[in-house]
Order: sequence, then structure tokens, then C-alpha cells
Amino acid sequence: MNRYSRITGTGSFLPPRRLTNAELAAQLAVQGVETSDEWIVERTGIRARHFADDGVFSSDLALEACKSALQAAGLTAQDIDLIIVATSTPDMVFPSTACILQNKLGANGGAAFDVQAVCSGFVYALTVADAMIRTGSSKRALVVGAEVFSRILDFKDRTTCVLFGDGAGAVVLEASDTPGILASDLHADGKHVGILCVPGHVSNGHILGDPLLKMDGQAVFKLAVGVLEEAARATLAKANLTEADIDWLIPHQANIRIMQSTARKLKLPMDKVVVTVDQHGNTSAASIPLALDTAVRQGKVKPGDTLMLEGVGGGFTWGAVLLNL
Ligand code: ACO
Repeated sequence: MNRYSRITGTGSFLPPRRLTNAELAAQLAVQGVETSDEWIVERTGIRARHFADDGVFSSDLALEACKSALQAAGLTAQDIDLIIVATSTPDMVFPSTACILQNKLGANGGAAFDVQAVCSGFVYALTVADAMIRTGSSKRALVVGAEVFSRILDFKDRTTCVLFGDGAGAVVLEASDTPGILASDLHADGKHVGILCVPGHVSNGHILGDPLLKMDGQAVFKLAVGVLEEAARATLAKANLTEADIDWLIPHQANIRIMQSTARKLKLPMDKVVVTVDQHGNTSAASIPLALDTAVRQGKVKPGDTLMLEGVGGGFTWGAVLLNL
């Protein structure tokens, strides 16, 4: 009998501190940085984001998301034998945020590691977990995206600091006799390292280079709209399906205009696209599982639906996962 993997529970968590565009603009104005609700909504679709308080780490947000995903799956942490955390804002240089999360969950003993693929991190992590389950090395995984991007934002740079937020999303992925994950398609092109990066590093007890996010927004935008269409088509082809089979497109939540353009190219109406960027901003690796869980809990996305998850981000990385819920 073939062995597959299926999502059996979803969860998410947003830190309670919510900032609307107007509130963020007022805070930035104090530092002489000029922006407005109108500009942010028109160029990005973002209306609000959540920021974690000092002392709250990615593993803390991940813990809450995982508890809720486990509850949805009817499992406890002791049932889990694999934890993969996608993050670009880990608690420490090492050990991995996954190991810290494992200890907080009390799920000690199984495999735990981080995946670093920036905003594509969740589709990378889901693909790795699916492969590990199908080959028999794991039975039940927590696959998590968790970020505190507010920690790496330059609040003097209005072209980036208005775009991002903090949060976490998680899924329980279990071995199954029937296919949940149908196909995936991952890519990277390292020649674009410089268009989206945090160039600093730790050396001899000091941070060398800039530890804050740098982005060429227009270059990212142009690359993103091309690769998201390609990845969706490649994934559908691997599963012998077409765009018409997609019930919901759940793209990385970076910018509403990127999502609209992708939907147009795939001939999908916007009412088949899950959009949370307006309320969450760009939460990098957390954005897809956050959007998925939001849509599940709103009753939009239902068991049996065919979902196309798509990520794109720093690296440059991109990819898609097609699945039956
Ligand atoms: N408020 C007001 N004005 C602003 C702001 C702001 N927050 N930011 C930029 N501007 C100004 C610029 O200075 C510029 O002014 P000028 O014409 O006087 O020079 C003007 O607005 C237009 O700037 P552009 O950069 O041309 O604006 P654009 O329409 O390209 O939108 C944006 C910028 C939103 C960043 C867009 O390029 C984008 O969304 N790119 C993709 C970003 C993205 O998705 N990143 C995440 C990738 S995922 C990951 O891995 C993290």
C-alpha cells in the first residue's frame, strides 16, 4: 500500500499588539519618517499588522500555533515525531528554533530542525516533511512557520518597515493511506541574493554588516509574479491537474497586487484566493500557514478542498505545494 501525508489540523497565532497603518504612520512621523494609510493600502493592500512585545520570540508564537494545530488534529505533543520550523528570525543563532519549540511543547525525542528559505520557508518545510513521512522516517509532524520580522526592520526605511508583521502558523502532517499532498515544486536562484537580504553576521562577539532587512522592492515584485505562475503550473502538471481543479489559491501574503497578478495569470477569480495580507502584513514564512488556518476557521476552506500553496522570497526562493485537505 502506498504511503502519503495529509494535513489533519491547522493552527495559528498573532501577538496581541496590533498596529493599523494610521497608528504605525503616527509612530514613524515622530522619527521624521513620512508615510500614510492611503499609500500603504494602495501599493500593498496592507491595513494592519501585529508586532510581538520585547522578550517574545518566534518559538513563543510557534508554541501557541502548534497547540491549536494539535488540538484541531485531536493529538498531543507526545504523538509528534518530527518538528520543522521555517523561520528567518530564529530565537538564537543556534540551536534551532525547532529544538527550543520541541522543549516548550514537551515533545522531546523526535527529530527537530529549522528550514531557512525566507518567505518560501513553509512550502519548503512542508515538502521536506511530506518526503520524510512518505519514506517512513516519520509518522506525525508539526510543520511551522514563525517569525518576529519586526526585530529586523529598519524603522527609518519607509519602503520596507510598513510591509511586515509578526506571527506563526502550523499544521499537523500525518502518514495516510490516501493522498493529501499531491505534488510540490521548489526552486532557488542564488544570483538574486542581494535584492532581499539581512546582510549582517556575528563575528568575534560583534555584529558585522547591517543586521536589518534590505530590499529592492521593484526587483522582488517583478521576479515574484513570474515565478509564482511557473511554480503553480509545474505543480499542477506533476499531479495531472489543471487550474480548474484548484478550489483555493493560498499564496504568500506579501502584496495584494502580486496575488491579483498571479490569480489573473492562472485565470482564477479573486474569490478563490485566500487574502490575509490586509490584516497580517507580510509575516514571511508564517504567512501561508496563518492564511490557511484563518480560512479553515472562517469555514471557507473545507476538508476535501484542493489547495495550491505558493511561496516566494529571499534567496531568491520560490515553490508550490498542491494538496487535498
Ligand atoms: N510611504 C509613502 N511613500 C513611500 C513609501 C511609504 N511607506 N515607500 C516608498 N514610498 C515612495 C517612494 O519613495 C517613491 O517616491 P518617489 O516617486 O518620490 O521616488 C514612491 O513611493 C514609489 O515608490 P516605489 O518603490 O516605486 O513603489 P512601488 O509601487 O514599487 O511599491 C513596494 C513599493 C510596495 C515595496 C513594491 O515594490 C512591492 O510590494 N514589492 C514586492 C515586495 C515584496 O513582496 N517583498 C516581500 C518578498 S517576500 C520575502 O522574502 C520577505
